[in-house]
Amino acid sequence: MSVNAVSIPGLRPMIEGDLDQVMVVEYASYPFPWTRGIFKDCLSSGYCCWVMEDTDSLAGELKGYGILSVAAGEAHVLNVAISPKQRQQGLARHLMFHLLDVAKDHNVETVFLEVRPSNTAAFRLYHALGFNQVGQRRDYYPTETGREDALIMALTL
Ligand SMILES: CC(C)(COP(=O)(O)OP(=O)(O)OC[C@H]1O[C@@H](n2cnc3c(N)ncnc32)[C@H](O)[C@@H]1OP(=O)(O)O)[C@@H](O)C(=O)NCCC(=O)NCCS
Repeated sequence: MSVNAVSIPGLRPMIEGDLDQVMVVEYASYPFPWTRGIFKDCLSSGYCCWVMEDTDSLAGELKGYGILSVAAGEAHVLNVAISPKQRQQGLARHLMFHLLDVAKDHNVETVFLEVRPSNTAAFRLYHALGFNQVGQRRDYYPTETGREDALIMALTL
């Protein structure tokens, strides 16, 4: 299942200079997007923050990004997003393979994440990678009309 990061063109650590483009993808991806400050905090906290950039584009347009926190043998996938025009080409799968490789490098035993039950694309992506539902947080996410539960998913490495 593992894909070596060096075989994925354009995959590199996120830097603060990426945040303008990251925010474009973030706003295009979520009804309740993270703020720029949250991304800055992830960078300054030393979280594993990765971007995929379009190596064919002179401007180095961002295709997507993923953020992983690692502590005490556990990792949490905090954010994964792919630019709408770049979706359904396998990029999120590659990004997730890379984040799982990063977790393995940190001797992580279990990777956790949360996903909205309504987010079919993300749920299927995680399920296809071997994540299973291990819990549920009631009314965790805001929605346009109220609240939505979060499914907690886990993968043992
Ligand atoms: C979820 C997301 C990251 C998937 O990115 P992607 O690059 O399009 O996904 P991939 O092309 O790598 O697809 C991998 C697998 O995910 C699932 N998947 C992806 N898009 C899907 C869709 N629109 N409908 C159903 N399943 C989908 C499939 O199982 C797919 O495997 P397959 O192609 O063999 O069927 C992308 O839709 C996105 O950025 N969404 C907005 C942000 C978001 O919801 N992030 C997750 C938060 S928990």
